[in-house]
Amino acid sequence: MVNLIIKTFKRYAWFKRFNAKITYELLAKYIPAEDWHFMNYGYEPNADEAPLRLKDSVLQRYPLQMYHYLAAKTSITNKDVLEVGSGRGGGARYLAGAMNPNSYVGLDLAQSAVDLANKVHQQSNLKFIQGSAEEIPVENSSIDVVINVESSHCYGSVDKFLSEVKRVLKPNGYLLMVDFRNEVKNMELFQEQIKNSGLELVKEENISKNVIAAIEAENPAKVKRIEELVPKRWQKLFSDFAGVVGSRFYNTLKDGTRVYYRFVLRKK
Ligand SMILES: C[S@@+](CC[C@H](N)C(=O)[O-])C[C@H]1O[C@@H](n2cnc3c(N)ncnc32)[C@H](O)[C@@H]1O
Repeated sequence: MVNLIIKTFKRYAWFKRFNAKITYELLAKYIPAEDWHFMNYGYEPNADEAPLRLKDSVLQRYPLQMYHYLAAKTSITNKDVLEVGSGRGGGARYLAGAMNPNSYVGLDLAQSAVDLANKVHQQSNLKFIQGSAEEIPVENSSIDVVINVESSHCYGSVDKFLSEVKRVLKPNGYLLMVDFRNEVKNMELFQEQIKNSGLELVKEENISKNVIAAIEAENPAKVKRIEELVPKRWQKLFSDFAGVVGSRFYNTLKDGTRVYYRFVLRKK
C-alpha cells in the first residue's frame, strides 16, 4: 500500500525532490557512521575490464568499483571534476586520491551528507558543497568531467539537469553517468531525454548483470552492516532500500523489470 502511494506520487516532480531531500538528509543525520562511504548498489567488472587490486580491508569494494570503472571511461588526471549527487563522499574521495584530478567538487542536495563528507574526507583537491542538480552553482564552461552515480532517478526534472551539465561543461567535456530506472519504459524515456539533451552519446551499456553480481557478492557483508548500524525496527525497510538479495530492488533487476545503464556523453 505504502509502495503504491509512493509510486503514484513519484509522478510529480515536487514529490521526487521532496522525497530525495528528506530521505538523504535523514540518512546522514541519523546514521552518521564515518566508515559508511557509498550509497550505490555496486559493480562487478566485465572480464575485459582491467582488474582493480584493492586491499582486503577496503569496505564497500563493489560500490567503489562502480566509480572506478565509470571514471576509467575518460582520463580525469589534472582535470576539473564535478560530481553531482556525491552522497557520503566515498566515490569522490577515491577518485580524487587515485586519479589525481586538479580539483574535485562533490555537490549534493542533502546538507547533512555534505557536512559528513567534508568531515570524513579531507584532501587538498577535494571539497563538498550543497546544491541542486537542477540548478548547479557552478560557472559556465568551467568543468572538464561531470560524474553522476545513481542519483538522476531522484530528480524532479532530468531535462533541467542535463541542460545544466551542458552549461557547466567545457567544450569536449564529458558526462559519465550510471543509474537505474524501475521499468524499461522509464529507461527508454531517460534515453530519449539524453538524445534531446544536445550532448553527444559516445557509449551506452546495460550493466544490470554487473550490478546483480555485485549485490550478490556483497550481500553477507551488507546484511551484517545493516544489523550493526540500523535500529531493529527499521532493518526490514532499510534492507529493501539497500537492495539486499531477495529485496524488491534485487528481484526486479534480476527479472528484467528494472534496468541499470552506464552512459558516456560529450559536449560537442
Ligand atoms: C543513491 S545516492 C548515491 C550517492 C553517491 N553517488 C554514491 O554512489 O554513494 C543518491 C544521491 O543523490 C543525491 N541527490 C538527489 N537529488 C539530488 C539533486 N536534485 N541534486 C543533487 N543531489 C541530489 C541524494 O542526496 C543522494 O546523496
